[in-house]
Amino acid sequence: MRIYNFYKIYKKIKRKEEIILKKKLMMIPGPTPVEQSILDALSKETVSHLDPELVKTLKETLQDLKTIVMTEQGQPFIIPGTGTLAMETALVNALKKGDRLLVISHGFFGDRFVEIARAYDFEVEVLASQWGKIVEVEKITQKLKEKKFSALTLTHVDTSTGVCAPVIEVGEILKKYSETLFIVDGVCAMGGIEERMDDWGIDILFAGNQKAIGVPPGLANLLFSQRALERRNSLGKIFAYYMDINRWLPIMREPGERYFATHAVNMVNALHQGLKIILEEGLEERFRRHQKFALAFQTGLEELGFSILPSQEIRANTVSTVVYPSGIEDLPFREKLYQNGVLVSEGKGVLAGKVFRLGHMGNITENEVIMTLSIIEKTLSDFNYNFKMGAGVGAAENILWNVKKGARH
Ligand SMILES: Cc1ncc(COP(=O)(O)O)c(C=O)c1O
Repeated sequence: MRIYNFYKIYKKIKRKEEIILKKKLMMIPGPTPVEQSILDALSKETVSHLDPELVKTLKETLQDLKTIVMTEQGQPFIIPGTGTLAMETALVNALKKGDRLLVISHGFFGDRFVEIARAYDFEVEVLASQWGKIVEVEKITQKLKEKKFSALTLTHVDTSTGVCAPVIEVGEILKKYSETLFIVDGVCAMGGIEERMDDWGIDILFAGNQKAIGVPPGLANLLFSQRALERRNSLGKIFAYYMDINRWLPIMREPGERYFATHAVNMVNALHQGLKIILEEGLEERFRRHQKFALAFQTGLEELGFSILPSQEIRANTVSTVVYPSGIEDLPFREKLYQNGVLVSEGKGVLAGKVFRLGHMGNITENEVIMTLSIIEKTLSDFNYNFKMGAGVGAAENILWNVKKGARH
């Protein structure tokens, strides 16, 4: 089966000269739409990475990162790079060659930990779920009883399947295994779904910029517990230079005092503003909004005949994997949807051609939720699909505003 990603769709539509010159809604699971104030921060004059103003901004940003994941004891690191750099940084600072790693994989990004671990000759074992489901917690408990692991990785939200992992439960189990560091990939969760680093016993937690944080891609944002910092020290020499957190530690503890590598000055300004927006909205409020938007989308889409891959209890609030109803083909649908004004992502791996992925995180508003559903309805009608026009939008309005279609006020 030939699967087209956005680039191929874009080229094809452009070739046909069917591009309508209007702003598209970018409803992919990252990068997410960026607020103007963040773009303004990004375009501030580039100053020295040792400039007092920049140093102050970096200090505040490091503190705000701690606030967002509710840690007192965690050491934040903001490093130029992406989510994948953060994944690799987490592993190389937690394990040495031959150490055993347990990967809990709920999809494409869980599997990525396995590839990284193999590249460094770590001993890796995997507990993988069927895509759209989660690994049962009992299986994890059993595995930990069988063997000793130096670390365990869990992807909070696997962006390929839209599944949200039981981070709290796994953290509880790991409290009995003091030799096992708990590494959580928060790339598709941080800033949109609650993450309590200290309370949940997380040792290494990280995200990029470009998803629920709502900032353009370009930084790897990590937090290490004191236990994780001690683990790094106990490893001695590691096979990394740029990714060695001990080289970054003095910079993060006393920005401006020392040089290790030139910081991404403009990106720091952008992240600073992105985190301020999150804190101004309020963490509780922001998590509630993500939950509401997810429910509005998922209910609206189900009303139209789509289904959501994961079952209700394990659905993420940041991204949905949406299964097509019979009669609707992936590529023509996504092409038409894009022409009509909404960009969504293709299914990954075994889900390619069967689902599209819809991002609903970061700084989007109710307007984007309603417009996206409305344009999905228009696109369905372009294919003469049999459905009740307005049903999806109506269901979402009901959740967002508690209004019933046809109700008189
Ligand atoms: C859960 C998860 N982890 C890791 C990554 C890798 O991040 P990046 O693409 O920024 O390298 C992604 C990217 O989408 C992701 O969704």
